[in-house]
Amino acid sequence: MDGSRRKEAHVLVFPFPGQGMVNCMLKLADLLSGAGLHVTFLNTHHNHRRLSHFSGAHSRLAQRPKFRFASIPDSLSEEETRSVFNFFDLEESMRTRAAAYFRDLLLAYRDKDPDGWPPVTCVIADGLMPFTIDVSEEVGIPAIMFRTISACCVWAFVCVPKLLESGEIPFPEGADLDEPVRGVPGMESLLRRRDLPSYCRQARNQMDRDLQVMSSVTASSNRARALVLNTFESLEGSALSHIRNHSPVTYAVGPLNALAGTSSDSGSLWEEDRDCMSWLHSQPDRSVVYVSFGSLTVVTREEYMEFWHGLVDSGQRFLWVVRSDLINKRGGGTEEKQAVPAELEEGRRERGCIVGWAPQEEVLAHPAVGCFLTHSGWNSTLESIAAGKPMLCWPFFADQQINSRFVSAVWGIGLDMKDLCGRSIVEKMVREVMEGERSEELRRNAWEMAEMAKKSVAEGGTSYNDFQRLIQHIMSFSS
Ligand code: UDX
Repeated sequence: MDGSRRKEAHVLVFPFPGQGMVNCMLKLADLLSGAGLHVTFLNTHHNHRRLSHFSGAHSRLAQRPKFRFASIPDSLSEEETRSVFNFFDLEESMRTRAAAYFRDLLLAYRDKDPDGWPPVTCVIADGLMPFTIDVSEEVGIPAIMFRTISACCVWAFVCVPKLLESGEIPFPEGADLDEPVRGVPGMESLLRRRDLPSYCRQARNQMDRDLQVMSSVTASSNRARALVLNTFESLEGSALSHIRNHSPVTYAVGPLNALAGTSSDSGSLWEEDRDCMSWLHSQPDRSVVYVSFGSLTVVTREEYMEFWHGLVDSGQRFLWVVRSDLINKRGGGTEEKQAVPAELEEGRRERGCIVGWAPQEEVLAHPAVGCFLTHSGWNSTLESIAAGKPMLCWPFFADQQINSRFVSAVWGIGLDMKDLCGRSIVEKMVREVMEGERSEELRRNAWEMAEMAKKSVAEGGTSYNDFQRLIQHIMSFSS
């Protein structure tokens, strides 16, 4: 092998095939490329096609001489890939079948790169796919894990085996979800059963598959050379220090959207409806509730109607992302299912704008947006923090339950609806965040948190420094 070429660092970045993961790992890849490294961004074929169709970031990055996109099959049938996002089916398919394609690709890049690029010197893969550590190390390439969830959620997952051992989970039949949970150090007086990641709540026995998969996935991150998290010290310092006892080399480099600073360039897998931006331009400052439940949340027709009533009854303006598959995902969300009664339509004509997919970061940064009604996905939470917007949280699943608890009870930058979305609750809480007694305090806290986020990514800030250390770490593999 050519000695001089080995000096060049070449990172292969591989997200789990979901919107939230692709979005933030594309930002990381963008930053690594900006630091002068060769970067290959690996997707599944399905997401590769969608990204190249809809993402501004894709077209920009594809122009760079040291950046390229690559893809492998996810091994699901075309029909399965298109119609259902079932995390555990996809996880299993990636682990048991796509892993072989990943191995072949790494070997091809190692032995005879199709573009004559230097060999891959480091893999940064989504921690949801620990098989990437084994495959990479087996072919002689060091692997670093990236988790797209919050540090508080990673720490909760690290503690799951102990919670199982002590009998805290699974919860007894009919358990009171407001009971405190002991056994997550640093969060003893904070967490109630309902705040744990949703898999803990769903678990029926010690062998529950979802819980086992998520905790073993988390446990395996300490087999990687390092762990990278999209968070920052002044937000999650306590959880980070607990995690570092488990994974000593942990870099906190978030919020990545602020560090990357290319907020108008999305990694969207859906077509963005930009008409909502002109609608926003015509609205007064801080008058609009931005409503989005991310890429995976599905609601029942009843929940959908409760949100409609609550939003209209609140009297506030709203911009709502209603994905084509938001209601009844398997059925594909027909127009009939999304239709609303005439009196609500009237409310929308006066004060509402509905889109299928929005340029979210731009929307959140817009002065007309006064608050974010969110499902508390980690990207959405961090994007809202970076934009300094208070949140109203309606967590759906996975890490979102713990994120919303921190938003309301620790950071004081929003309110948590948790398991409730009746129309009167939605109405009351929307009003509370927009114009109620606590609105001023929430806005101030959100603004202060945005300042902290800015400091962390500015030169000399903790995330800035951790990113520099990550680059040094990657370079050390090729020296
Ligand atoms: C879920 C999890 O909850 C999340 O924490 C985990 O890391 C990945 O899986 P998801 O439902 O996709 O994620 O939510 P979120 O993490 O918030 O990511 C959604 C992304 O889509 C955000 O980056 C957001 O900016 C983007 N988005 C969403 C748009 O660009 N337009 C929209 O209309 C809605």
